[in-house]
Amino acid sequence: QEQNEMADLLEPVMGRKVIVTGGTGYIGSHTVVELIAAGYEPVIIDNLYNSDISVLEGIRAITGVTPKFWDYDLCDSQKLEEVFRAEGKVDAIIHFAAYKAVGESVRKPLDYYRNNLTSLMNLLAAMDRHDTPALVFSSSCTVYGQPDTLPVTETSPVKEAASPYGYTKQAGETIIRDTIAARPAHKAVSLRYFNPIGAHPTAFIGELPRGVPENLVPYITQTAIGLRDELKVFGTDYDTPDGSCIRDYLHVVDLAKAHVMALRRMLDGENKAGYEVFNLGMGKGVSVLEAIAAFEKASGVKLKYTITGRRAGDIEKIWADPSLANRELGWKTEITIEEAMETAWRWENRLKNKE
Ligand code: UD1
Repeated sequence: QEQNEMADLLEPVMGRKVIVTGGTGYIGSHTVVELIAAGYEPVIIDNLYNSDISVLEGIRAITGVTPKFWDYDLCDSQKLEEVFRAEGKVDAIIHFAAYKAVGESVRKPLDYYRNNLTSLMNLLAAMDRHDTPALVFSSSCTVYGQPDTLPVTETSPVKEAASPYGYTKQAGETIIRDTIAARPAHKAVSLRYFNPIGAHPTAFIGELPRGVPENLVPYITQTAIGLRDELKVFGTDYDTPDGSCIRDYLHVVDLAKAHVMALRRMLDGENKAGYEVFNLGMGKGVSVLEAIAAFEKASGVKLKYTITGRRAGDIEKIWADPSLANRELGWKTEITIEEAMETAWRWENRLKNKE
């Protein structure tokens, strides 16, 4: 029954054009697939800084459609203007394109501030000039820092950011909120992602980390396939049941669908506030050791890992209260962590076979 309701919400809306920045990236590419399935016409802008053009073939293999693609940097406002002029009427923008490595942001703060904030401000200005009515922004649970109470709701306080990357998400949200407040005709939604994992079940698209992965699941799958010697579990001395950190892992396809629903709400539904924020998570805390166990169960592979010291900047535990998104967007996660791990493993194997 609930699945049918979700299917209704994803019913096709033909011919609406959506600019997807960062559309060849990890979450962006999965969202492009869901947009096409829902009848939208995605147009990708991506400078391929952290993605590969072959992702377009993956999207075509799944959907039968090769989306239009502009290899432009959003920090170049003239190029952005060129895209908007060429595309004509654009119904909405989904803005994924950004630098996202927490550790790198500590070493290169200005690169992060310049890239992540200039691109956003250029987009907002273009949106104004061309009267694009709706924006979805990729935000992160990092804006909450270590919350005082769990699960975390959208009204939990935004804490001092732990990294320049985190600050670009906080500042990005604020810039959008203030800009939308001054433009009654326009709407925006910030989606605060918890920990997206997994790949498309077809294994035609997935996560493509550059170099040594920073995130847990690509590190797990690369270890299991033999690209890395062993996983290091960053600390088992936290105040959690098994001592390892707790996160809210959700499948990237579930996450992608939320973007379509957020668009639908802004373009056709009730978004009275003009600017809104939603948590996107499963609503369940999973420890690092539990995540490893889920991977082992899904893949049948015994993972080599050791326990080391804590990673600087890590939050002890966080998971979402996704009830606002459940209620207002009609969205909920449908894929379990084991299924998510299985898709991540399928994808890692496909990458190996493509070599
Ligand atoms: C981090 C950021 C988040 C950002 C995301 C995007 C923080 C607090 N969070 O999420 O804002 O959106 O990256 O990349 O900065 N772990 C290991 N061994 C590893 C890798 C990870 O034990 O080799 C553990 C970590 O300590 C953590 C969990 O796995 O407990 C998840 O880590 P990760 O995948 O890096 O995500 P976050 O740190 O939660």
